[in-house]
Amino acid sequence: MQILNGKEAAQAIKDALKIEVAQLASNGKEVPHLVAILVGNNGASETYVAAKVKACEEVGFKSTLIRFEESVSAFKLLETIRELNGDPDVDGILVQLPLPAHISSEEVINTIDPAKDVDGFHPNTVGKLVLGQPTFIPATPYGIMLLLQHYKIDTRGKHAVVIGRSNIVGRPMSILLSAAGAQGNATVTITHSHTVNLAEICRSADIIVAALGRPGFVTADMVKEGAVVIDVGITRVDDPLRKSGYRLSGDVDFGAVAEKASFITPVPGGVGPMTIAALMKNTYHACARKHFE
Ligand SMILES: NC(=O)c1ccc[n+]([C@@H]2O[C@H](COP(=O)([O-])OP(=O)(O)OC[C@H]3O[C@@H](n4cnc5c(N)ncnc54)[C@H](OP(=O)(O)O)[C@@H]3O)[C@@H](O)[C@H]2O)c1
Repeated sequence: MQILNGKEAAQAIKDALKIEVAQLASNGKEVPHLVAILVGNNGASETYVAAKVKACEEVGFKSTLIRFEESVSAFKLLETIRELNGDPDVDGILVQLPLPAHISSEEVINTIDPAKDVDGFHPNTVGKLVLGQPTFIPATPYGIMLLLQHYKIDTRGKHAVVIGRSNIVGRPMSILLSAAGAQGNATVTITHSHTVNLAEICRSADIIVAALGRPGFVTADMVKEGAVVIDVGITRVDDPLRKSGYRLSGDVDFGAVAEKASFITPVPGGVGPMTIAALMKNTYHACARKHFE
């Protein structure tokens, strides 16, 4: 069994980006600028946004964090996004989800200029992804594809089972794995909470991508000997022994599944860092397109 070390692979991506950004700067070009919008004080969202801002600093991007109170009106949020859409100094816009219940995330996503949609959630972006046209790829599935590429894992002709069908992870993941091209060409089964015989389906998988948000859901009896197991889940589980009061748990019963898997991602240190590296790549592309088009 080999650990798919997302931290290491993400660092390699960030190191390469750092060189490209330095080249842009030395040619007198503007460096990429990512604007993150955070609404409210959700602990996990705070952590994710802080990690994104830190990654921007690491690779030499400009970043701006715009914070709003939980009570901000949808009008104010949408107005801010429109202003950022029109600002030539801004390359990428991301609004950290989830949003408070009084704001429609669909409306927010639809308001972001597709040319700055570095999270890859806008319907235009998703449409292009489905059609196999060049576009931003949602950061988490993109990060997983980059991780598979980093470890030269051949997906061609393999049976991949994706657990979860969300718009940000499971659905785009199934599209990428089934698309023609490197790290694609797999035969994909996408599953959800209504799937019957999930354990049996998983047992026939060469690759399992678990993205459902249920700690330890994928157990060893669901995994074929030699399967590649990608754990997307991150759930905060109470742990009074820790200073923070919680620990992060993946969707896979890591200890037991690792004994059967050929490759497996840890949580934390697997998909999480790759998601951020992929967001950095998307932001770089948003900026580079502007310079070189
Ligand atoms: N590592 C990262 O960077 C990263 C990024 C994003 C998300 N995550 C984590 O990944 C997990 C999933 O996130 P998400 O946003 O995709 O979650 P989500 O929107 O809640 O979607 C969960 C999906 O799992 C399915 N599901 C729930 N219970 C199931 C069951 N018993 N059997 C099969 N499918 C089941 C749901 O099916 P239905 O559609 O039928 O309800 C749904 O499609 C979460 O833990 C999240 O924190 C991690």
